Amino acid sequence: MPELTVIVPTYREAENLPELIERVFTATSCADIKAEMLVVDDNSGDGTEHICADMGKKYSVRLITRKEERGLATAVLCGIRESTTGFLIIMDADLSHPPEEIPNFVHHLRQGADFVIGSGCAQGGSRDPTWSLFQRLNSEVARLLARGLTTVNDPLSGYFAFPRRILTDVPQLSPVGYKIGLEILAKANCRKVVEIPMAVFDRQRGESKLTLRERLLYLRHLRRLYRFRFSRSAEIVQFGAVGISGTGVDLTFFLTLTYLFGVHHQISRALSFIIAASWNWFLNRWFTFVGGRDRKPGKQWLAFLVSASVGFTANWGSYKLLTDNIPYMTQHRLIAFFIGIFLGAGFNYTLSRVFVFRPFEERIRGEGPEVAGEKIV
Ligand code: GDD
Ligand code: MN
Repeated sequence: MPELTVIVPTYREAENLPELIERVFTATSCADIKAEMLVVDDNSGDGTEHICADMGKKYSVRLITRKEERGLATAVLCGIRESTTGFLIIMDADLSHPPEEIPNFVHHLRQGADFVIGSGCAQGGSRDPTWSLFQRLNSEVARLLARGLTTVNDPLSGYFAFPRRILTDVPQLSPVGYKIGLEILAKANCRKVVEIPMAVFDRQRGESKLTLRERLLYLRHLRRLYRFRFSRSAEIVQFGAVGISGTGVDLTFFLTLTYLFGVHHQISRALSFIIAASWNWFLNRWFTFVGGRDRKPGKQWLAFLVSASVGFTANWGSYKLLTDNIPYMTQHRLIAFFIGIFLGAGFNYTLSRVFVFRPFEERIRGEGPEVAGEKIV
């Protein structure tokens, strides 16, 4: 039973495969690693199957040809699903990732690492010297954007290894675009992460499939990962920020109506409350809650007004109760004031979350098209 599967997604890599297979198995057998290779090809039609069959006589190479689906990330997931070994390593077929580093990856996995990633950016590594300024800039920006998700220097690298066990607790992996390594790094609980600095070169043969479309998909992928990672806290912070902006709106309208238009102060108080609550509802619908736009606006707006009123009642009611009954609070009204705000906001948030806007987790479970994913292990 091999201990390692080398998963190689390919699309039109026939000219690179023989050298890759040769070098992978030379490297692993020299280091006493029992490895098998799983090539996941998207029906390239360039002779990939003959090469795999041919080399398969000498080495443990298995080919999966996907006819229905296309895409790097889903190809990698397919490879993970179809493999059985404890250790997995993913690499490009184009020889930009030196196979001679595989023993190094395995060494760290055997030492208990949760995730090992090859990096041209880490200290001691290098990237292709022919890269243009634009390519460099592109990579810098892409890496910077992922900073909040992981401390790894280059989480976008396509050369990485991990033990299968880290996937057991991952709710699901959503293969968007190219960065399946980042997806695993962000979603799995990887405590011990190792970066291996290395020289990474651009391919010599064939062409890159990393298009502009993939770059745009990357932004969508990031947004999704940040939401996944910080869903609840992001929601609370946004709800709070919206609430503060709403207080500004409330005050502005109250003062304007009362003093500029001479409206009776109790009436303008009620009006400004409705306007501010509508403002909050609108922002929360569009920005705070992921599933916020799934409901009809009219009903949702009304429901939000009700939850805001309950929040307001809790706010005002607790203030009254505290200052009426507790002498300390009568002297320290500001404390009662803030307790009221806190309680009111808490009620408002909870009701909003449960009854007015659909929460994030539910949407994942419902597998709407945007977050459909699959559980693989
Ligand atoms: N099965 C399958 N299906 N394989 C694919 C597909 C696809 O749709 N698209 C690309 N591949 C394979 C390629 O054949 C290659 O083996 C590997 O995935 C990477 O594709 P490249 O086209 O060589 O990508 P790249 O060199 O531009 O991007 C590399 O570097 C990036 C960081 O700069 C990859 O390693 C990326 O994962 C990495 O983020
Ligand atoms: Mn490449």
